[in-house]
Amino acid sequence: NTQKLWGGRFTGETDPLMHLYNASLPYDWKMYKADLEGTRAYTSGLNKLGLITPEELVKIHYGLGEIKKEWDENKFVRHPNDEDIHTANERRLGEIIGRDIAGKVHTGRSRNDQVVTDMRIFCRDTVNEKLLPGLKELVNVMVKRAEKEINYLMPGYTHLQRAQPIRWSHWLSSYATYFTEDLKRLKELLERFNQSPLGAGALAGHPYGIDREYLARELGFQGVIGNSLVAVSDRDFVVELMFWGTLFMNHISRFAEDMIIYSTAEFGFIKLNDAYSTGSSLMPQKKNADSLELLRGKSGRVFGDLAGFLMSLKGVPSTYDKDMQEDKESLFDCLTTAEHSILIATGVISTLSVNSENMVNALTVDMLATDLADYLVRKGVPFRETHRISGECVAKAENLNLSGIDKLPLEQYKSIDSRFEADLFDTFNFEKSVERRDAIGGTAKSAILKQLSSLQSQI
Ligand code: ARG
Repeated sequence: NTQKLWGGRFTGETDPLMHLYNASLPYDWKMYKADLEGTRAYTSGLNKLGLITPEELVKIHYGLGEIKKEWDENKFVRHPNDEDIHTANERRLGEIIGRDIAGKVHTGRSRNDQVVTDMRIFCRDTVNEKLLPGLKELVNVMVKRAEKEINYLMPGYTHLQRAQPIRWSHWLSSYATYFTEDLKRLKELLERFNQSPLGAGALAGHPYGIDREYLARELGFQGVIGNSLVAVSDRDFVVELMFWGTLFMNHISRFAEDMIIYSTAEFGFIKLNDAYSTGSSLMPQKKNADSLELLRGKSGRVFGDLAGFLMSLKGVPSTYDKDMQEDKESLFDCLTTAEHSILIATGVISTLSVNSENMVNALTVDMLATDLADYLVRKGVPFRETHRISGECVAKAENLNLSGIDKLPLEQYKSIDSRFEADLFDTFNFEKSVERRDAIGGTAKSAILKQLSSLQSQI
């Protein structure tokens, strides 16, 4: 303990198990780049205060660069005493440029403002470099596919029962809309959490009057968190990001569930590419949609990440308590799972094949019963009445064992309602049914093309 960063007041050693229990380096090493950047900006701030000479600053920045290379090249050697990424980097800096200079970098700083600075930078970089570009590509791939396959008709479902005909592209466009909202939500979140906690000290503030706005600018933050107690203890951004991840995975999961259903032999609408399927160790014929099942299954773990950390956070008194170290494993798991899921979903959707014949064959003429009701509406009959009349026609065709309402003779129609005329049979056309729905958001070709171009302009 006497060798530890905080060892001055200690005489006894840490229990070895306690050391392991306490250490976060096994997972927070991921933030090494953010940690080094933070120290670079912070030491520049100390230099402006005259607490570090220009010569010392040059050496410090050189040392930080060397450490970054070691991490980048996977050559950083961890010391058994390293507790977390902050202590590891500072220890290494001392070895490279000498302890007398390295010993100055933490002046006025605490790991409390340091760790949360690292976290915010790490989150921002993950959002900017991985999640946003990934989502953009996913939406792009879906939009492209929807444009290309706009002529394919399929059943739209409610309650998983055949409801009304829609275009396959309309279904694609629906999930592309969810993912576009996810992308926008993430951008809004980024705006909110890209604020600097650095210079807040352990909790009470900075004793040398460091220019916190300068630190914020140096690190690419949009502003400074205005209360030092909040700066060190606020983990709302972690919660919000994990809520973002939860909602995104919820969308991914429903998307995957649809495709699992559509890819069964019973539906046969789509076929996954071999690249995203796996086989069975026992049944030679099997090809399973494991990619989709994992997209659905992993969402459960991400929901757990959010719920678990909320529980850890709820009883923490102000300001920093070690409970907060628990933010990392959940958050990293959530972000990594979301990132990988985006990539897998993009791969799945860009490589699957569509069986448009099976789709169109799954359409049944009873799915046009609403259109039949609308036919009479166009002749001036109130919809409530036409709904009942159309229902009677469906029942009549069923009773006569006909394959569908299109097979019911005109006389039967007329006996149900005298306002039916021969042109009623024009109703039984899936293409026309779909094309009638051309108001904003509908399944007509023109309406879908508008949706797709609007999505493209939003991403
Ligand atoms: N590893 C710690 C964490 O992740 C860093 C902050 C430690 N601060 C402290 N006062 N012990 O939260």
